[in-house]
Amino acid sequence: MNRISEDIIEKIRGTIDIVDVVSEYVQLKKQGRNYFGLCPFHGEKSPSFSVSPEKQIYHCFGCGAGGNVFSFLMEIEGFSFLEAVQSAAKRTNIDIPEIETITEKTQTSTIAEKMVEAHELLKKFYHHLLVNTKEGSKPLQYLNNRGFTKETIENFTIGYAPSSKDFAIKFLHKRGFSYELLEQAGIAIKSQEGTFYDRFRNRIMFPIWDLQGNVIAFSGRIIEDGEPKYLNSPETTIFQKSKVLYGFHLARSHIRKKQHAILLEGFLDTIALHRAGISNAIATMGTALTDEQIRIIRRNVDQVIICYDSDKAGVEAAFRASEMLKDAGCEIKIAIMPDGYDPDDYISKFGETKFRTDVIGASVTLMGFKMQYYRRGKDLKDESDKISYIDNILREVSKLDKPVERDHYLRQLSEEFEISLDALKSQQFQVYKQNKKRDNSPVSRNNIANRPILQKRMLPAFHNAERLLLAHMLRDAEVASKVQNTLNGLFNIEEHSAIAAYLYAFYEEGNPPNVNALLSRIQEQNLQRMISELSMLTLNEEISELELSDYIKQVLNYPKMLKIKEKESERRDAERRNEYVMAAQIEMEIIKMRKELK
Ligand code: UTP
Ligand code: MN
Repeated sequence: MNRISEDIIEKIRGTIDIVDVVSEYVQLKKQGRNYFGLCPFHGEKSPSFSVSPEKQIYHCFGCGAGGNVFSFLMEIEGFSFLEAVQSAAKRTNIDIPEIETITEKTQTSTIAEKMVEAHELLKKFYHHLLVNTKEGSKPLQYLNNRGFTKETIENFTIGYAPSSKDFAIKFLHKRGFSYELLEQAGIAIKSQEGTFYDRFRNRIMFPIWDLQGNVIAFSGRIIEDGEPKYLNSPETTIFQKSKVLYGFHLARSHIRKKQHAILLEGFLDTIALHRAGISNAIATMGTALTDEQIRIIRRNVDQVIICYDSDKAGVEAAFRASEMLKDAGCEIKIAIMPDGYDPDDYISKFGETKFRTDVIGASVTLMGFKMQYYRRGKDLKDESDKISYIDNILREVSKLDKPVERDHYLRQLSEEFEISLDALKSQQFQVYKQNKKRDNSPVSRNNIANRPILQKRMLPAFHNAERLLLAHMLRDAEVASKVQNTLNGLFNIEEHSAIAAYLYAFYEEGNPPNVNALLSRIQEQNLQRMISELSMLTLNEEISELELSDYIKQVLNYPKMLKIKEKESERRDAERRNEYVMAAQIEMEIIKMRKELK
């Protein structure tokens, strides 16, 4: 099955740095010898995902995921082993001569690749029509009027879909794409009569990328006015709106560098911000923020500035998005514009500098935003509006963890409405108690995420001994050889025997200890995970002879102890049946067996 030569796999494995690869998906921080971050494989708020640059492996203390760079790519991208090796090879620029012939891809991945290929070609074609042809002059004029520079049009490969019923699909058909595939990709539409035609006509075309920068869909804007303003590709196997963050492939490195992301509602706003030199901007596709999108953001950054339209719908959406991001553990700020503007309008009207200072620079905390939010449409001179406003704020204040913060906002309320601070405090405490009663029954999400990382269940002594033996064997060939001579494969836990067997073979070939290399020969995910975990255990550097023989004894004794237990119950049975001679005989055996334990 594995037809890339071992040598090449070794070479790729030896060249690539797992920290670089993981960093593309997880925000890592160095702590001692290892890096830590939020695990991309399960939801968590405090980092239990660790990467060892020395050993070139990763392990999550929370969910148990673990392995080397290939396992990581398989797990995070859903790659097969071969695909993971290829993807790693691409990053290292190592040539795999056999690469074309070895790919035994599944049907679906070939179709997905073809769909992307069609989009990439069409993107170039649309772009060419916009910038080089007479047909493109009107849409180009429109873009210029909206402040699009030549550079922006290039960067975002904006294009133009001509006013023709089948220009695009004919272009692609000639290049070997079947009409059925183009329909599946959302580029063609099939009529009742079974003929195919172009989905996008006479529209300005914006390519939509996935996180890796493949074009997977389009959005076409009508020139001037009309309905729908934007026509999007339908959901396909390669395009799911809920998983897309527009501009992410361009913004990722800037988000990392600046340590915050700016989240927008529209892709035109994203382009406007990039044009203004604010390159850490990303956008949803005009829909509510999804958990999937939050996970992507969370893997990359802690801080998010939300900058949505400042109309009613935009403010509502910003409110919901901020709650969701906060629940996921993000620090939120909200950038607010005057009523009726979106970021693109604002920049066009007031310029980039003012946007930077007066909008992004003046972004408010979540609480500040909520205060403004609850004020909307209320007349605070009206008694009942005022009471409902104060109620809302007290509810929000009750959710704050820090007493200093609570105090700060209560004082602010007290000053603004001339209510005594004591009265506010006692009312806020009432609200807090009510909320607590409500939240108490089901374990709140917070509690689960905040529990200590390494809360391993207590293991029986033999189990612990086996783990410690393997952990030392992974680091030291000599220990492995001693264990092989005494215990050999007699581990009580099946997976441990399997790991030992792999390890003996690995050392017998004369390899020095190297978990990363060992992992590339093992297919079983559960073994990979165990090995990674064992390698991450903190151990005393050296194991003494005494410790070693003690562990081995515990492992060997365990099955004997099980036998003794069996015998003991046999003896009790005999006693119950009044067969005292038999019972005495069994007791003798037990005594003998106990002696052997020492
Ligand atoms: P907006 O209506 O705010 O558009 O929709 P916009 O970004 O300001 O665009 P211009 O400035 O009017 O040209 C925000 C997002 O909602 C989605 C798009 O993704 C858009 O970026 N949308 C909007 C659609 O999908 N279809 C529509 O008809 C309108
Ligand atoms: Mn706009």
